[in-house]
Amino acid sequence: MFFYYNYISMNNKTRKLCKILCCNSTLLISRTKLKYVCICIGLVTLLDFFGAFTHFFEITYDSNFVYPYEGNVHEFVNALRHNEKPAVNPINEYNYMFLINNEQKCVDSAYNTFRVVYVVKSAIENFERRLAIRKSWGFENRFFDVPTKTIFILGVHPHDDEIQAKVNIEAAKYKDVIQVDFIDTYYNNTIKTMMSFKWLVKHCPNSKFYMFVDDDMYVSVKNVLRFIRNPANYPDYLKEPKKFEAHKREIKDSGKNEERYNNTDTQDGIYNSNKKDLFILEKLKETISTDPIIHELKQNNYNKTLNTISLDNDLKPSSNVKLELVNEQIMQNEYTSNRTKRQIFDFELPEDVRLYAGFVLQSSPHRHKSSKWYTTLKEYPYHLWPPYITSGAYILSKEAFLDMYYTSLYTKHFKFDDIFLGLVARKANIELFHCEEFHFYKKDYTKFNYKYAITSHGYGNPRELLNVWNEQKAFGNA
Ligand SMILES: *[C@@H]1O[C@H](CO)[C@@H](O)[C@H](O)[C@H]1NC(C)=O
Ligand SMILES: *[C@@H]1O[C@H](CO)[C@@H](O)[C@H](O)[C@H]1NC(C)=O
Ligand SMILES: *[C@@H]1O[C@H](CO)[C@@H](O)[C@H](O)[C@H]1NC(C)=O
Ligand SMILES: *[C@@H]1O[C@H](CO)[C@@H](O)[C@H](O)[C@H]1NC(C)=O
Repeated sequence: MFFYYNYISMNNKTRKLCKILCCNSTLLISRTKLKYVCICIGLVTLLDFFGAFTHFFEITYDSNFVYPYEGNVHEFVNALRHNEKPAVNPINEYNYMFLINNEQKCVDSAYNTFRVVYVVKSAIENFERRLAIRKSWGFENRFFDVPTKTIFILGVHPHDDEIQAKVNIEAAKYKDVIQVDFIDTYYNNTIKTMMSFKWLVKHCPNSKFYMFVDDDMYVSVKNVLRFIRNPANYPDYLKEPKKFEAHKREIKDSGKNEERYNNTDTQDGIYNSNKKDLFILEKLKETISTDPIIHELKQNNYNKTLNTISLDNDLKPSSNVKLELVNEQIMQNEYTSNRTKRQIFDFELPEDVRLYAGFVLQSSPHRHKSSKWYTTLKEYPYHLWPPYITSGAYILSKEAFLDMYYTSLYTKHFKFDDIFLGLVARKANIELFHCEEFHFYKKDYTKFNYKYAITSHGYGNPRELLNVWNEQKAFGNA
């Protein structure tokens, strides 16, 4: 403990101090003693650098976890969502200016609702990556029966007029760039993410799903669409060769850019079987993974789904089949009971489902001072992060998106965007939905193992992205 106090009072200056002490011959203490003191101080400094002391002072992450704003925010969120004045004003708003706003981006005479809006978190200098995305998974007119939009969100490089001029040209040409006046750095990613939320709430609220993706990701548009239709059973529900054989419809590229994505292609088969409920329950069981962290989350989803399943007996095979899940378990408080009374997992997810999906992790804060993710106790005192979704790719349903946005206004800023969204989700009582097929590392590529991949990280090389994506598209996997 002595050394600890010693360390506190000296802290960063220990080395200098040590030198001065050692060299100061007027001191009464003998040189050998000083040597030991210096070694000890050095050791303490080293241990501190690796976060050894910080760990002692961490608070256990458990059910008592609180993160400012400390209190129930649901009423405030509801008030804001209904354009009413909340009892407590927001504590954390990001008020940066939109330099390039593109307000008309989501105004489309042909559609009033989009299926998915892709929001690409891009770094200003990545012109080539954005081009590759526009030509591959970000292409908006892929399926004429599935309206989508793609937007790119950028920050600024101050004092670099050349790059800004290029961005202005790009924005004028493609009309899909949103630029916000904050310095584009890693530690400003939360600002980037939340400003994109803000823009969407204001200018693009008419989408069923929002997908947030980094500019170095491979994304299979087809698998995204398959996933959002039946997240609980993805990808297993696609794997029933015999049942589906008769109903499989070849998706041919028409030569034109627009294809058709027919919502009924693989589902009819399931309901032609007499053992509807059995089949579904088995599928649900299969979705439980053995990984301990993920397991609990999945178990939760599973219980939620299983406990509440009730099949409508009048199902017609080709009709829009509904599995109504009247959920009692999650009625923990008045708010959630009002909002999620009827969570329905369905082959066309209902409007009010709160889905926040991606690759879910729970890890510990880095206390090692040289880490890119170094976090002080003051910033975050707990020994674990809340469960969070890796920031490279995630999907939010509209309802989850709006709750996340308004809850974020009552969540203290945090520098890492994935952790921040984890904190927000926890406050909003939104359960994270884990899916292995959001690969947050680079999934080894072979022609045949990307069949069910929804996303894969590590495609910063635009040429490689185009090659892989085109090949997978030819296989019907992208
Ligand atoms: C984030 O952006 C703001 C506004 O431009 C800037 O003042 C700040 O220095 C940036 N932070 C980092 C860590 O780059
Ligand atoms: C899907 O295709 C089937 C037959 O190929 C057709 O009857 C149905 O209307 C199509 N559905 C949509 C939503 O286009
Ligand atoms: C899910 O249900 C099982 C069996 O009913 C139970 O053992 C388990 O604790 C439940 N899990 C959660 C997270 O509620
Ligand atoms: C929940 O619904 C009930 C009845 O519809 C209503 O009286 C109550 O105010 C609602 N609570 C919240 C928090 O919205």
